[in-house]
Amino acid sequence: MPTLAVYPGSFDPLTNGHVDIITRGARLFDRIIVAILVNLEKSPLFTAAERVEIARAVFKKLPNVEVDTFDGLLVDYVQRRQAQVIVRGLRALSDFEYEFQMALMNQRLNGRIETVFMMPAEQYTYISSRLIKEVFSLGGRVHGLVPDMVEERLREKVAGLRATS
Ligand code: PNS
Repeated sequence: MPTLAVYPGSFDPLTNGHVDIITRGARLFDRIIVAILVNLEKSPLFTAAERVEIARAVFKKLPNVEVDTFDGLLVDYVQRRQAQVIVRGLRALSDFEYEFQMALMNQRLNGRIETVFMMPAEQYTYISSRLIKEVFSLGGRVHGLVPDMVEERLREKVAGLRATS
């Protein structure tokens, strides 16, 4: 049976750390679904449609990477998609507690779904979407840390926000 994995997250925005995990996941699993959470508690910088558009463009050359959105419980989405695996990236020890809690809760909710943790390449271990947004909005350089399309979109977003404030 082909192994289908779901890589869930906010992806606000997609970083090269995410790209690295997805690329590794695409080599390991028959298919990997990048599942973008729609209803973020805090208001996202990029709309769900923008996050989907970016991820689809970045992975257009990887045929076994699919980009989708989800809402509600992750395990329900994974079951609906008939996937067997949830992929999460682990960057540093600081990620561990939250990831451990989520993996165990998801295991309790559905014991047939396995969480698989993957490490990104070393140069991406300190990148997070939150830091990218903060550094970029304060004028810092994020080149090489996010896909070029994300950098472009960040520039447009920040210019748009400045024009309306
Ligand atoms: O990129 P993030 O913000 O770290 O991703 C977190 C995400 C989307 C994986 C998590 O918040 C999630 O699974 N949300 C869906 C709701 C859910 O199932 N919550 C219980 C998780 S134990």
